[in-house]
Amino acid sequence: MSQRAPTRQACDDCGAELGPRDPRMQCERCGGLLSLVYDPPDQRGIALHALFDSRLTLQTAQGVPHGISGVWRFRELVLPDASDTEVVTQPEGNTTLLQRERVARWCGVNTLFLKHEGGNPTGSFKDRGMTVAVTQARRIGATAVACASTGNTSASLAAYAALAGLPALVLVPQGQVSLGKLAQTLAYGARTLLVRGDFDDCLRLTRDAADRLGVYLANSINPYRIAGQKTIILEMLQQLGWQAPDWIVLPAGNLGNTSAFGAALREALQLGLIDRAPRLAAVQASGAAPFAASFRDDFRERHTVRAETAATAIRIGDPASYARAVRAIRETNGVVLDVTDAEILDAKAVVDASGVGCEPASAASVAGVRTLAARGMIKRDEVVVAVLTGHILKDPGILLQYHRETEPAPALANRPLEIDADLGAVERVLAAAARGTR
Ligand code: F0G
Repeated sequence: MSQRAPTRQACDDCGAELGPRDPRMQCERCGGLLSLVYDPPDQRGIALHALFDSRLTLQTAQGVPHGISGVWRFRELVLPDASDTEVVTQPEGNTTLLQRERVARWCGVNTLFLKHEGGNPTGSFKDRGMTVAVTQARRIGATAVACASTGNTSASLAAYAALAGLPALVLVPQGQVSLGKLAQTLAYGARTLLVRGDFDDCLRLTRDAADRLGVYLANSINPYRIAGQKTIILEMLQQLGWQAPDWIVLPAGNLGNTSAFGAALREALQLGLIDRAPRLAAVQASGAAPFAASFRDDFRERHTVRAETAATAIRIGDPASYARAVRAIRETNGVVLDVTDAEILDAKAVVDASGVGCEPASAASVAGVRTLAARGMIKRDEVVVAVLTGHILKDPGILLQYHRETEPAPALANRPLEIDADLGAVERVLAAAARGTR
């Protein structure tokens, strides 16, 4: 293998480069966000497939992070110059790509895959970016790491910081983080600040803290996070035998993942991993849909809103990775749409009742597939991958509310039945179940 230069960081807007150890998240010249720049691997096309596929057989090898992690298996496209001893890995990734007939039928398509990122160690896709960001934090000798979060990033950072032995500071909007996520964040040991404000306030404050107090920022404006999250796409393509689907549909909040998907598809095409680009569909909640509003304007204007949605993970009104997400949508001939909270919760109930389950924000992708199929934008015979970004138990509060407390009961509500301690009562329930009634 040829001698490689260290991974650099370059401004997305003006191309100015920062050194590999620079902890800043923005270009000092123009304020643009940064991307990682690295020498591409020597292999292309099927040789690169072979390299990545060969590592699948290392799944059980001890002490080989690139073999057992679904992120570091693709290290040539993530952070090529990180050594095995530097890598902070749980490991993560290796999530399932599922097919559930019932969900596909509900969406109105024949072939629907669910890429379930809830299978990551802390229950969301954030672990894929966090393994890289915390690896970088340790490489540059950061003394503390910090993030703003709607709950999943904070849980993930807390876990990886614990693994790396670094103090973590997380800023979350008070009263707006689901129970599972807050509980995890506390349990993993992060210093947890409940900010009187929304996510957008938390992010502003965290960016100031990173600039002025010298903590290392682990939000998705961090280019190392984006590099790790590209592997959702790489792993999914690998699972499909490197055959690109027609559509990839994902929930969109702060737009880090949309940006990462765009970057992954760009590289996959450049390196011959795939021979055609799938279209991206980014789905927002109607009460938190500034990106969808900009899309409707053909991206002439950057919209911001005061966000409100039951899908708290994507309750974001001023997405930080806006510009690179615009590029991702444009390059993939993609679309941005919004779906109502009622549509999200119905989609979630369908995913949950299929035995798969996901958190509310994740179900936005499934609701989005249904909407796009109904509009005729997604054709019935096209191959669709919907990304489920988080685990069903992330938000138990909303589950109980939907199934137990909502009046009138939604069509898919599964009310618990209170009975006397009496076999006759059990028998009546069983008979009703056999008839398909309640
Ligand atoms: N789905 C889930 C479950 C999320 O937690 C998030 C973002 C998204 C989708 C949207 O991804 O922001 O890259 O567009 N959660 C962040 C957090 C904001 O703090 O956990 P995005």
